[in-house]
Parts: sequence; structure tokens; C-alpha cells
Amino acid sequence: MSNFTDFSTTAKGITLKKHLEESHKDLHQWFLLYQECLVAGLDQSAIRTLEVFEQILVFHLTFEDQWLLKDALSTTRWPITVYRKEHEKLEAALSKLKRKTADYLTFSGRKKRHALISLIEDQLRFYHLMEHHEEREEQDLFLFMPDLSASLWVVPYKKLLDSFLSFKENTVRQLDNLQ
Ligand SMILES: [Fe+2]
Ligand SMILES: [Fe+2]
Repeated sequence: MSNFTDFSTTAKGITLKKHLEESHKDLHQWFLLYQECLVAGLDQSAIRTLEVFEQILVFHLTFEDQWLLKDALSTTRWPITVYRKEHEKLEAALSKLKRKTADYLTFSGRKKRHALISLIEDQLRFYHLMEHHEEREEQDLFLFMPDLSASLWVVPYKKLLDSFLSFKENTVRQLDNLQ
């Protein structure tokens, strides 16, 4: 018989799990916006969008590192070190993506188009890494998280997202107006 408490079944646990899963969806949306800006030729917006994505990702990873991966959770299917390593991998892959995006903007003509094709391959690799990590969390780690109050996450996270709201609205408006 199991000797641990499944905190995902408590009210607080369910709420925090739901909010962290929502944040995974936010990350997907910002990543798609970054890709769309690139394809649409809105180079500066693409750079800014990737910066925003990075800030949200770092905030998300830091929260998980601090609150979910700190205690020795012997109950998760995957060891905590697997999650920590994946966080490091995501940050390294994102740094590479940022470098390649900055390089891409310095090119023109065919060189730029070829660089875009190569960049899309890197984006796909990063996206799959992120998706795989999130699936693991949602099916394992989040089921065994400590019984934390959701406001610990919701309040600062909402503040962070709100600070990007007008940029997001302007960018979406620009994209909507393109043919
Ligand atoms: Fe994570
Ligand atoms: Fe996560």
C-alpha cells in the first residue's frame, strides 16, 4: 500500500496543477506568435516575442525548480533529476535558438531564406523537447506536487503576463492586418 498523499486530489493541488497546465498552453501560444512573426517578416516583433517567451519560460521553470523539484519526491515515476536536466536542456536549446534568430536577421535574400529553413528545424526540435517535458510533468510530477496554494503562482504570473498584454495585442493586430 502506498504511504504518500496524492496532493493532486486536494483542492489546492488541483487548482495549481490546472494553472501550471494553462501556463504550458501560454508558452505554446507565445512560441507560435514568435514563429508567425518570423514567417510574416516582422523581424523585430519576432525578436521581442522570443524575449517574452523566454521570460515566461524562465519564470515557469524557476517556480517548478523552487517549489516542485526541491523536496525529494520519491513518489514520482521519474526521478527529480530527470526534470532538472530537462529544464537545463530547454534553457540551453532556447539560448541556441535566440542566437540563430539574431543571426538570421542579419542576412538577406536567398541566404536569409535558407537561414529561415534551418531555423525552423531548430524550432521544431525545441518545441518537441518542450512538449515532451510538459507531458511528463502533467502525467507524473503534477500528480505528486506539494500542497501549495495556487495564489503563490497565480498572482506573480498574472502580473508578468499583464506586462506583455499591450505588446501582444499590437502584434496580433499587425498580423491580422497583413494579407
Ligand atoms: Fe518543467
Ligand atoms: Fe512545466
